[in-house]
Amino acid sequence: MREGILRIGSAAVPYRYGADCADALCESIEALRPASAIVALDEAVLAHAEPLLRRLERRMPVHPFVITPAEENKRLSLVESLLDHAVAHGADRTSVILAMGGGLVGNVAGLAASLLFRGVRLVHLPTTPVAAFDAVLSLKQGANLAAGKNLCGAYRAPSLICCDLSWLVTLSRPQLLTGITEMAKNVLAVVPSRENAFKEALTALPERPVEAFDALFELGLAAKAPLLATDPHERHEALVFEYGHTVGHALEVLSAGAMGHGEAVAWGMLAAAEVSAQLGLLDQADVAAHYSLLSALELPSPCTALGDVDLEALAARLATDNKRGHIPSSPGSVPMVLLRRLGEPVTDADGRPLAPVPLDIAVEAFEKVAATEVV
Ligand SMILES: NC(=O)c1ccc[n+]([C@@H]2O[C@H](COP(=O)([O-])OP(=O)(O)OC[C@H]3O[C@@H](n4cnc5c(N)ncnc54)[C@H](O)[C@@H]3O)[C@@H](O)[C@H]2O)c1
Repeated sequence: MREGILRIGSAAVPYRYGADCADALCESIEALRPASAIVALDEAVLAHAEPLLRRLERRMPVHPFVITPAEENKRLSLVESLLDHAVAHGADRTSVILAMGGGLVGNVAGLAASLLFRGVRLVHLPTTPVAAFDAVLSLKQGANLAAGKNLCGAYRAPSLICCDLSWLVTLSRPQLLTGITEMAKNVLAVVPSRENAFKEALTALPERPVEAFDALFELGLAAKAPLLATDPHERHEALVFEYGHTVGHALEVLSAGAMGHGEAVAWGMLAAAEVSAQLGLLDQADVAAHYSLLSALELPSPCTALGDVDLEALAARLATDNKRGHIPSSPGSVPMVLLRRLGEPVTDADGRPLAPVPLDIAVEAFEKVAATEVV
């Protein structure tokens, strides 16, 4: 069992990650001595949850609330339903909200925990790589508005993060790919010294998935912990975790669901590397390192999901990117995370790892990436 305390600003968050360790995890939840547990539960993990909830029920009232985790459901109305469920089942200020599922369930439950009685304790039980190695190692909780993803939310520190890595073995390859791409991002933009650990985890994944997940968790923690300690709200140096997400988000939206988040971020990182090279910031060896690392993910060409990419639509989408406002940028440009070397972002005078990029340069970079075979 891997356990420790993650410091996110002033919050000290205990975590426990292991294999086939549901009983040990229950003990940690029981030690919080809650009046009851309200369980936001991803519908895909009922079988994983059943033994855990049965054991918890011997110690406290347990009230599951099953969620279908689709982005169109990640709305304030869902948060309100969860809050109503909690109150209808007698939750009080000492109750805990448990979030068992992927990043979506974690975000919705996290927002509910920050609102219920103006704040109750939150326990994350992540069941996807995105949640386990990335989303729960953050204070950000949120929901979507009609205009876009995660446009409202709150910061809430979990009181505990518990993960049985064997829960993750039931995920499909596209779902795994999203979390793994975020770890590739960590290697390229934050901890390039971990490249071999990342590659070894990928090799282990088919035969020894739990071992691979453990290594990927270690990688996520190594990348995130130092930056979250000093930038808990992810508004300064931790913006580096947005690497690849500018072009990536635009492609994801343009594909209308055909391109997964991980795949989109992978293309977004390659585009960011090409932009950095075009601006004379990143040398060709580091650009080649991007292609080499991401080739291990065996991505299909972006044209598989997007057909012939509409470059004007891409520019229009980039112009509405949600990083606008972090730094000044003119209407014809978009703030992007760029690298001058692997693990070394270009920063502005305030230390923010963002630079304004003319839209035509960002679009040209994507064109180049789409025309290059990633092998
Ligand atoms: N800092 C943050 O808060 C942060 C960071 C990254 C992502 N997010 C958010 O997280 C969400 C994406 O998270 P995600 O990638 O985990 O997706 P998700 O939560 O939408 O889950 C993806 C799919 O996996 C299924 N699933 C979950 N666990 C499973 C398991 N063990 N076995 C089989 N299927 C399982 C779910 O039912 C769902 O169909 C987005 O809403 C995103 O905005 C938040």
